Amino acid sequence: MSQQVQGVIAPGKNEPVRIETIVIPDPGPGEAVVKIQACGVCHTDLHYKQGGINDDFPFLLGHEAAGVVESVGEGVTDVAPGDFVVLNWRAVCGQCRACLRGRPWYCFDTHNAKQKMTLLDGTELSPALGIGAFAEKTLVAAGQCTKVDPEVSPAVAGLLGCGVMAGIGAAINTGQVGRGDSVAVIGCGGVGDAAIAGARLAGAAKIIAVDIDDRKLETARTMGATHTVNSRSTDPVEAIRALTDGNGADVVIEAVGRPETYKQAFYARDLAGTVVLVGVPTPEMQLELPLIDVFGRGGSLKSSWYGDCLPSRDFPMLIDLHQQGRIDLGAFVTETIGLGDVEQAFARMHDGDVLRSVVVF
Ligand code: APR
Ligand code: ZN
Ligand code: ZN
Repeated sequence: MSQQVQGVIAPGKNEPVRIETIVIPDPGPGEAVVKIQACGVCHTDLHYKQGGINDDFPFLLGHEAAGVVESVGEGVTDVAPGDFVVLNWRAVCGQCRACLRGRPWYCFDTHNAKQKMTLLDGTELSPALGIGAFAEKTLVAAGQCTKVDPEVSPAVAGLLGCGVMAGIGAAINTGQVGRGDSVAVIGCGGVGDAAIAGARLAGAAKIIAVDIDDRKLETARTMGATHTVNSRSTDPVEAIRALTDGNGADVVIEAVGRPETYKQAFYARDLAGTVVLVGVPTPEMQLELPLIDVFGRGGSLKSSWYGDCLPSRDFPMLIDLHQQGRIDLGAFVTETIGLGDVEQAFARMHDGDVLRSVVVF
């Protein structure tokens, strides 16, 4: 048995996305079919379309999603039909050496659905990040479904599935920002702003936002930045030091993914401070630093993959804090759009006009 739904696919490298009929098999052992209610548009979806991730076209795009479990396969006990869930791309295996050492957020063998969704002619689809949620329904591994409070809006909840979690997690999980810390965030798009909101949630005393676009700096203030620096006109390293008694920030979060901004982060942190790289570089980028500075300045240089999140721990917690008004996840939803508007949303994202466009069903 299977069912047919509408979904957005990227048919080939740099070809426009289009809506197609998708065939969804019934869930097999360990799998679930989820009725999607909302799915955010992320840079990674655009990278898939551009062929920047791999060549396994056609892709079923979309991966920042929330919805309701429709059916589950054999042996699924953690979720049941009717559960409101946020989809994640870190369904931990419980068996690999990271999981066995009690560090499941580094799981090296995360689960996706085993069966394939297809086009009507049988062509197998590659779901973006093992999710594929620009579709009325999708098939995932049951562990990719994280139950959260159903009172929250799906458009808001779904954002935890990727970029917003990456940013918040870069601050609270990877950077371990603590009460009273000084934090600088370089790059204030959706990810950087989420890092700012996360730093505020963690009790940072000073939060310095750095960007080359004044519009972004304005938004960063509403997310919790206490100071802003336009690095087009001002040297960000000097500015961050000046704002921290000449020392540099305790934690600097790089949310652009470029060597020059990484260098700024490296030199804008206090001695023994922490640099967190959450921006995603491209394969050809190279970093050059005096090794004596890497040694002499001490501290830690970390990267943050999906905000080092553990979905089962972090999603329900952040939704609860949102519901209590302690972090405003709704502020990341710039606009809601229809399934047919994804191509336009890519253009708006590229132009820096939105934090997140969210497809609602
Ligand atoms: N210095 C400071 N800020 C910069 C610079 C720079 N040299 N170049 C770009 N920016 C700013 C942009 O003005 C924008 O506000 O970085 C921000 C990037 O934001 P978005 O394009 O909205 O990207 P976002 O979704 O936040 O993701 C940021 O994290 O997950 C990764 O792939 C993602 O690498 C990307 C990064
Ligand atoms: Zn594992
Ligand atoms: Zn994403």
